[in-house]
Amino acid sequence: MIIELQPNSFSPEQTTIWSFPDRGKWATHSGRYRGNWSPYVPRNLILRYSKPGDWILDQFLGSGTTLVEAKLLNRNAVGIDINPQSISLSETNLNFKCETQSKIFVRKGDATDLSFIKDDKIDFICTHPPYSNIIKYSTDINGDLSLLDEDAFFKAINKVAKEAYRVLKKGKYCAVMIGDKRYRGNIVPLGFTLMQKYLDVGFKLKEIIIKEQHNCKSTTKWIGVKRNFLMLAHEYIFIFYK
Ligand SMILES: C[S@@+](CC[C@H](N)C(=O)[O-])C[C@H]1O[C@@H](n2cnc3c(N)ncnc32)[C@H](O)[C@@H]1O
Repeated sequence: MIIELQPNSFSPEQTTIWSFPDRGKWATHSGRYRGNWSPYVPRNLILRYSKPGDWILDQFLGSGTTLVEAKLLNRNAVGIDINPQSISLSETNLNFKCETQSKIFVRKGDATDLSFIKDDKIDFICTHPPYSNIIKYSTDINGDLSLLDEDAFFKAINKVAKEAYRVLKKGKYCAVMIGDKRYRGNIVPLGFTLMQKYLDVGFKLKEIIIKEQHNCKSTTKWIGVKRNFLMLAHEYIFIFYK
């Protein structure tokens, strides 16, 4: 049973540094899907970069957090994910009643090929790809970006960015969240590399937001006196526009 459909207290972020130590549990949100984003992230982005009745796209649907927020905030939305388990979980999470008139669609698909969407149709893209292969979302799904090493991952991200640019209306925004990783002691700057891929296909850059990361389980092994590494505790949210 859903107790609260909206957050208790919400005030929109006003700076380029965001932090949500309490990740947010209203509506059907929970932290159970590995690597899902706090609903405060899409809530802030949707409120700032879209208006009621707009069409929102999430190319990497996951557990449906973005679409739940779109539904609560009276936006229409399309979400796709390559993993059928993500589609059925999102359908479950979207199965609640609220008073908005939103049209919400989820479908299995590949973010590198949005041919089911015509050019210049989307008002806002709000999405959160895998961070290369840090968390693997499947073992063998063809096209799953979370199975790819950096070279193959960024070839695919180039296609994702091209498709995002094609389907977005001119003058509208595209928000993408991603974090960096360490490999053999070095930082692999997934964030800035992704940013450059989006700029290369024609997007302009409106903002770089630093989001503090909480409960960084997969990076705790890197801290400690002997190795002298800092724990990665931030992600980037890039706001592009067409
Ligand atoms: C970081 S998760 C998204 C989490 C989401 N923001 C949430 O709150 O639940 C990334 C998702 O991308 C999906 N994915 C991986 N490759 C994909 C592709 N080529 N096309 C669409 N989705 C893909 C994965 O299955 C995973 O669900």
